[in-house]
Amino acid sequence: MNKLTAAITAVGGYVPKFILTNKMLEEIVDTNDEWITTRTGIKERRVLKEEEGEGTSFLAIKAAEDLIAKKNINPEEIDLVIVATATPDNMVASTAAFVASEIGAKDAFAYDLLAACSSFLFGMSTAASYIESGRYKKVLLIGADKMSSILDYEDRTTCIIFGDGAGAVLFEPNSEGLGLQDEYLRADGSGRKFLGMEGGGSLMPATVESVTNKKHYIFQEGRAVFKFAVSNMAGAAAEIMERNSLSHEDVDWLVPHQANKRIIDATSNRMGLDGDKVMMNIQKYGNTTSGTLPLLLFDYEKQLKKGDNLVFAAFGGGFTWGSIYLKWAY
Ligand code: UT7
Repeated sequence: MNKLTAAITAVGGYVPKFILTNKMLEEIVDTNDEWITTRTGIKERRVLKEEEGEGTSFLAIKAAEDLIAKKNINPEEIDLVIVATATPDNMVASTAAFVASEIGAKDAFAYDLLAACSSFLFGMSTAASYIESGRYKKVLLIGADKMSSILDYEDRTTCIIFGDGAGAVLFEPNSEGLGLQDEYLRADGSGRKFLGMEGGGSLMPATVESVTNKKHYIFQEGRAVFKFAVSNMAGAAAEIMERNSLSHEDVDWLVPHQANKRIIDATSNRMGLDGDKVMMNIQKYGNTTSGTLPLLLFDYEKQLKKGDNLVFAAFGGGFTWGSIYLKWAY
């Protein structure tokens, strides 16, 4: 009997309607379109405004509903809903439980998975393991973040980078050997001093002082994070290629976390890939944290062919990073 593999069988996505352009940011902080474009590759990003919807769950539900409609499945068939996110609706109650109820996944269990910008990548490993074990048949993995809820729009080092958005994928068993093939996932807690949000957790509960001192916004030491991101994201992707004997010709697509175009270029160069094999949408969405990888699949779905070799790579706060090799199944 063939080993059961876990394949992605459907994709959905959603980005909010409001477009925040670099030009608009020039009016808010001391920055300019030229700096943002050359240093990051970003031209615009989406922001979820109250008039449209509230909270990360809104984005996650929209992405899941898009997938359910396209795949034409009954949500009651879903066994598990994982919401990969760094910005859950609130601290204690699971956002995923709310999402599962709202989309009609009545027979599912649900939980959130938090690993900053690597949340979705790590979630792929989790979702695939449940399928490979044979215990569950349909796992819905959603990557969703409302980064605007933790951004200081007076801080030009962070507010220009991030945006809001969500993507969803369905993992199902595959008997042809397609789906997740290998993974290389790592974490290094010494990195939390360079990227994170100090307030709001158990180390620094909200106080008047913490709010006044802007501790409930994301902070990043960009240059330090950049160095780690380049070497670790590229290193993980190279490692995955090497141990699966994949040459640059064997790789059909790099699916890289969209943090900075220069990090993406460094990763694809290390892998020896031409630009036309590199998925990229950072120019229109910025860094949507957990949303980047599934939103790439959402945008490129029509170009993918059954059997294509995809290499995913991500790097995020914690630090967390890694790479996954997956064969496309449809
Ligand atoms: O997704 C999670 C992981 N995150 C990442 O991977 C992000 C990694 N880091 C980066 O992508 C980059 O470090 C940034 C895009 C955040 C910043 O780019 P950089 O090339 O590393 O810039 P820098 O921080 O070294 O700053 C260079 C200069 C500084 O001015 P001086 O000191 O040289 O005079 C900054 O003050 O650019 C200045 N600067 C800006 N100028 C215009 C910083 N932000 C801005 C801005 N507009 N928005």
